[in-house]
Amino acid sequence: MKRVTASAPGKVTLFGEHAVVYGEPALVMSIGRRVYVSAELRGDSNVRIAASDLQLPGVTVTFAGNELVVETDYGRTLSAVAYLRSAVDIVSNYLNVFRGVNLFVRSEMPVGAGLGTSAAVAVATILAYANVLGYDLRKEELAKIGWEVEKSVQGTASPMDTSITTFGGVIKVRLLGSNNYEIKKIQVNPSLPIVVGYVEREARTKDLIIKVRKLRERHPELVDNIIRTIGMLVEDAEKALVGNDLTLLGELMNVNQGLLDALGVSNKRLSDLIYAARAAGALGSKITGAGGGGCIIALAPNNQEAVEVAMKLSGGLTMRTSLGGPGALVHSEEPPTPQ
Ligand code: MEV
Repeated sequence: MKRVTASAPGKVTLFGEHAVVYGEPALVMSIGRRVYVSAELRGDSNVRIAASDLQLPGVTVTFAGNELVVETDYGRTLSAVAYLRSAVDIVSNYLNVFRGVNLFVRSEMPVGAGLGTSAAVAVATILAYANVLGYDLRKEELAKIGWEVEKSVQGTASPMDTSITTFGGVIKVRLLGSNNYEIKKIQVNPSLPIVVGYVEREARTKDLIIKVRKLRERHPELVDNIIRTIGMLVEDAEKALVGNDLTLLGELMNVNQGLLDALGVSNKRLSDLIYAARAAGALGSKITGAGGGGCIIALAPNNQEAVEVAMKLSGGLTMRTSLGGPGALVHSEEPPTPQ
């Protein structure tokens, strides 16, 4: 049976999350960790999804006496599956072909942590399914269909995550209207010294986007000014990135964090991690992604280990990954099982 495996990387948003939803630019970078989706055509019209290897941070296993209790955050599992299902439907409509398919998913990243896993799941599924049907999508088409999938599941989404997981590297993204956006590839030092920290997520991306929207409805001028200031900061950050000016980058990360806090998307656990990283010598630290828990990034050129230890002591997990990984691709042979 013909089987196609595609993969797509996760990402860290360096600057500009949330403001990107309102038309400001954002800077985003792919990471070395990926989501893999394999597709096999079936003889019938069913879609079967096996996602047993998705790492779900909401899943916990506890021993209570002789009993083994498995608690699953079904909301998160179901939402990961929703991206796969929607990807198949939207590709079928786009290509005007539908065939039943078996999909196998595995992820090297925790789902729903703010590393763009949902976009990576969507884009890898689109690529694997289109390919097994015999279609070769252009990158621009892939990114655009990926964005449609994210919007169909989340209601609101900027094209940031689906663009970076498609193209990889570092890009600057700006929304130009409800259906249009521009992206610019940025050449930067690929060994940017970033440490990723993680605490459990308390709120979903969708709800955080709604929270910011409601704050803006109550204080339109105030919030618009915060959003515009984030946009200004992104322009400065682009220059600092291209010039590899780490001190300036760190300072801008801290300013961006203050503005995200003002938008109400931080919380105590994230703040604890962010300040612990700075106290241990990071040049800057901020939320990456939607907030409400999830991931932070710290810029630590000289003292990565001290920063990791500080984050662990304040209740976080840390993750090592390379940065700037390749965008979505089809594997000519079965890739090794990810760690
Ligand atoms: C989520 O990774 C980042 C947000 O800006 C939402 C989006 O861009 O779709 C909060």
